Amino acid sequence: MTKKTSPKHTKTMTQMDSIKKLKQFNVLQPSQGIIGFVLVAVLLIGCFLYVDYRDVNQRLSYNVVPKKLANLPPTEAETPYGGDMFQRVGFLDDGGEDCDVFDGQWVWDDSYPLYRSKDCLFEDSGFRCLENGRPDDSFTKWRWQPKDCNLPRFDARLMLEKLRNRRVVFAGDSIARNQWESLLCMLTSAIPDNSAVYEVNGNPITKHRGFLNFMFRDYNCTVEYYRAPFLVVQGSPPKDHPKEVKRVLRVDILAWSSKQWKDADVLVLNSGHWWTYDKTIRNDCYFQEGDKVRMNMSVETAYERSLETLLDWLGSEVNLSKTQVFFRTFSPVHFSNGDWKSDGSCHMEREPDLASNVSVSEYHFNIVSDVLSNYSKKQVTKNVVLLNVTYMTTQRKDGHPSLYNRGPELGPASLHRQDCSHWCLPGVPDSWNELLYALFLKRESVHFLKMAKKASWL
Ligand SMILES: *[C@@H]1O[C@H](CO)[C@@H](O)[C@H](O)[C@H]1NC(C)=O
Ligand SMILES: *[C@@H]1O[C@H](CO)[C@@H](O)[C@H](O)[C@H]1NC(C)=O
Ligand SMILES: *[C@@H]1O[C@H](CO)[C@@H](O)[C@H](O)[C@H]1NC(C)=O
Ligand SMILES: *[C@@H]1O[C@H](CO)[C@@H](O)[C@H](O)[C@H]1NC(C)=O
Ligand SMILES: *[C@@H]1O[C@H](CO)[C@@H](O)[C@H](O)[C@H]1NC(C)=O
Ligand SMILES: *[C@@H]1O[C@H](CO)[C@@H](O)[C@H](O)[C@H]1NC(C)=O
Repeated sequence: MTKKTSPKHTKTMTQMDSIKKLKQFNVLQPSQGIIGFVLVAVLLIGCFLYVDYRDVNQRLSYNVVPKKLANLPPTEAETPYGGDMFQRVGFLDDGGEDCDVFDGQWVWDDSYPLYRSKDCLFEDSGFRCLENGRPDDSFTKWRWQPKDCNLPRFDARLMLEKLRNRRVVFAGDSIARNQWESLLCMLTSAIPDNSAVYEVNGNPITKHRGFLNFMFRDYNCTVEYYRAPFLVVQGSPPKDHPKEVKRVLRVDILAWSSKQWKDADVLVLNSGHWWTYDKTIRNDCYFQEGDKVRMNMSVETAYERSLETLLDWLGSEVNLSKTQVFFRTFSPVHFSNGDWKSDGSCHMEREPDLASNVSVSEYHFNIVSDVLSNYSKKQVTKNVVLLNVTYMTTQRKDGHPSLYNRGPELGPASLHRQDCSHWCLPGVPDSWNELLYALFLKRESVHFLKMAKKASWL
């Protein structure tokens, strides 16, 4: 299993190969000049690897625009795996299982992005930042590098092959749609024939649709999106409710569309952005449990209840040996000097802030961690993978559409109405999907080994 995926580390392989070749050359023709040459070359390469890598990180902390780095002549240092890649185990290889892929750093990588938005038909105009006039493309050049292992390079064909006759479902808010569109673009980059991927009901991608289902014809694989920003039912209040209640969230019942998600093979869930006072109680939307509207229930408690409902549903309704469930944690916003409705901005952000950390006030993330640790004794938490992207994503204030979230015909948005919540594509959600890809393949290979052992093939 892992052997099969290794050749996809193409660039690593070629570098390894050239080093091996150098070594072979050395053995076959042991003339002193050549040995000297090889030694010098190896030393130089080593220096470049070390110096350039350090350099990138150092320059960033001194706020030098990374764009400049892109214009350096290509060197050995421009490896897709960061300078010290040789010291790390591959996440999919033996020994990689203990690696926390969410603990790491962003590294500059000229081999990115994985696709170009103009080659991807399946992207909202709201995420096509470069086509919408964003002047810098450095935000597309950062790759997530875990501290203790290397991620496999994303291979769309391998992913599709593994997804043959299977369904991938994203359910959540518009950031889920953002991530879903990113995965569509990543997967279709391997498919030259545009007609081989289509929306099953012929619907165009727009933010106004609550359900979209893309079929990869040659693989009989669907990649689906369900809009369910709270993940639980939102509806009308019960009879004789207090007057101020216009709508309710049923914190004890999962969204009706969950019937469609439950048989997915890969299920990626998220919630958080809508669990705020502004989007609930201030809008006369209260919380209901059973047939009672809980007028006093806080948003935090309601969010906690909704997550418990989700975990209970997963435990009772979903076949967790079939469905791989991921819960993606909160995707931070980066409005400075205001928020989304009061002139907050991020349009000057051109580079990540590699030193920033999750804000303690980020209660969505904390509530998810707390609920999960409360459930840690239950089987369900062993089968739900936390796609713990909050920390890495906090550092990417440069990745939002800001003013460039409208089609080129409309031009940049008003400075007072910026989008610092969603993400440009290609961009940050691609990195979440690379982690999704790695975790998915890891579980596939573990399953395969278990099956093989059971059937005593091994
Ligand atoms: C998420 O990842 C961060 C960074 O590695 C880590 O500090 C944190 O403990 C993780 N949280 C959970 C709940 O796994
Ligand atoms: C296509 O995949 C679905 C599951 O997603 C499966 O039920 C169906 O049998 C598959 N069709 C073919 C022709 O294999
Ligand atoms: C709800 O809050 C009101 C006012 O704060 C209080 O009087 C009432 O007892 C609370 N009800 C419940 C059920 O906690
Ligand atoms: C759950 O899925 C596994 C793997 O697909 C299957 O073997 C098993 O029969 C399923 N269990 C139920 C209760 O459907
Ligand atoms: C980020 O904050 C968490 C919790 O406040 C802390 O445990 C962690 O060490 C911090 N990480 C960094 C890189 O400062
Ligand atoms: C965890 O469980 C305790 C005891 O049941 C409860 O009081 C607390 O509110 C729970 N916390 C969360 C975040 O679910």
